[in-house]
Amino acid sequence: MTLLSVRDLNVTFGTPEGDVRAVQGVSFDIEPGETVAIVGESGSGKSVTANSLLRLNFGADVRISGEILLEGRDVLTMTEDEVRSVRGSDMAMIFQDPLTALNPFYTVGRQIGEAYAIHHPGATKKELREIALNSLEKVGIPEPLKRVDQYPHEFSGGMRQRIVIAMALVNNPKILIADEPTTALDVTVQAQILELIAEMQAQHGSAVILITHDLGVVAEITERVMVMYAGRVVESASVENTFAVPTHPYTRGLLKSVKSLDTARHERLEPIPGTPPSLIKLPSGCPFHPRCAFADSLGGRCSSEAPELRIVGSSRSACHLPDERLLGLMGGAS
Ligand SMILES: Nc1ncnc2c1ncn2[C@@H]1O[C@H](COP(=O)(O)OP(=O)(O)O)[C@@H](O)[C@H]1O
Ligand code: SF4
Ligand SMILES: [Mg+2]
Repeated sequence: MTLLSVRDLNVTFGTPEGDVRAVQGVSFDIEPGETVAIVGESGSGKSVTANSLLRLNFGADVRISGEILLEGRDVLTMTEDEVRSVRGSDMAMIFQDPLTALNPFYTVGRQIGEAYAIHHPGATKKELREIALNSLEKVGIPEPLKRVDQYPHEFSGGMRQRIVIAMALVNNPKILIADEPTTALDVTVQAQILELIAEMQAQHGSAVILITHDLGVVAEITERVMVMYAGRVVESASVENTFAVPTHPYTRGLLKSVKSLDTARHERLEPIPGTPPSLIKLPSGCPFHPRCAFADSLGGRCSSEAPELRIVGSSRSACHLPDERLLGLMGGAS
C-alpha cells in the first residue's frame, strides 16, 4: 500500500478580502523511504499543503477537500484523537524556525523526552533521559551529557535545528516533513543540516518531504521534485529530469533564476519577470500566463484554458505547449 496518497487536495481560506485559493487539485504519492521536494516561490501553497497533511491549518475559516490517505486512512476524516496519535509518530514536522518549535523555558533534554513520552506514556524518567541523550548524540550535538540540561538559547541556530530534528525523529516517524528547514541558517550550516536529514533518513528509513523555495538545496538530497505555482503542481519529475529536462516554463524560469550548484555552468541569472499572482484573484486559464514567455505562441489558449498535469517524456507537466517544445525548453527552442 502507498504510504501517503494525497488526492485532489483543495484548501481555501475565507478572508475579508475574499477567498484565498491556497491549494488547488494537488495530488501526489509518497512511498516508504522516498525523498520528495516541494519547490516554488513564496506564497505558492507549499506550507499550506504540508500543514494539511497533519491538519495543522484546521480551525481558521478554511475549507479543505480531497483525501490524504496515510496507509489508506484519510487524515481529513480522522477524529482529533486519531490525528494527535498520527502527529509525531507517523508523520513529524520540522519547521523553518527552530525557535518557534522549542519552548524557551524547558531544557532540550526535557523537550525531546516529552516528544517521546506523548506516544510512549509508560516510559520512565530514566528512559526518557537516555532517549534524549541518544537523540542528541545521533544528530551530532557534541557533549550530550552537558548539553541535555541546557536551554534552547544556549545553542546556535544550526544546533537548535539539530535538536528540532532530534525531536521530530524520536518516535521514528514514517514521514518527516521539513518545511524550509535551512532557510534561517547560513550556507555552511544549511549544508550540514541537509546532510543530517539525509543521514537520518538512511538510518530510520523515513520518507522525507522537503519543502523549499530554493532549487539549489533540492539536488542535494531529493529523488523527486514537485514544482508548485499559485497553489497547483505544475511539474512533477525526478530530480535529474527537473534540472536537465524541465518540462514547464515556470521550472525553466526557476532554473535560470537560481545560482547553479553546478559551477561548470556559467549562465547569466535571469529572474522570472513579474510577480506571483494573487490567490484571491487568480489569472484565468494557466495561472502562469501573465509571466510566461511562451504564452503568446498558443493563440489565447493559455489565458482561457487551465492546463492539467499530463505525462511529458518521463515527467509530468501542466502546460499546453506541445511535448517536443516542452522537452526542448533548456535548448533555447522558444
Ligand atoms: N490562515 C490563512 N489565512 C489566509 N490565507 C492564508 C493562510 N495561510 C496561508 N495563506 C495564504 O495561502 C497562500 C499560500 O501560503 P503558503 O502555503 O504559506 O506559501 P509558501 O509556498 O510560501 O509556503 C499565501 O497566499 C498565504 O498568504
Ligand atoms: S500553459 Fe501557456 S502560459 Fe502556461 S506555462 Fe504553458 S505556455 Fe506558459
Ligand atoms: Mg512556506
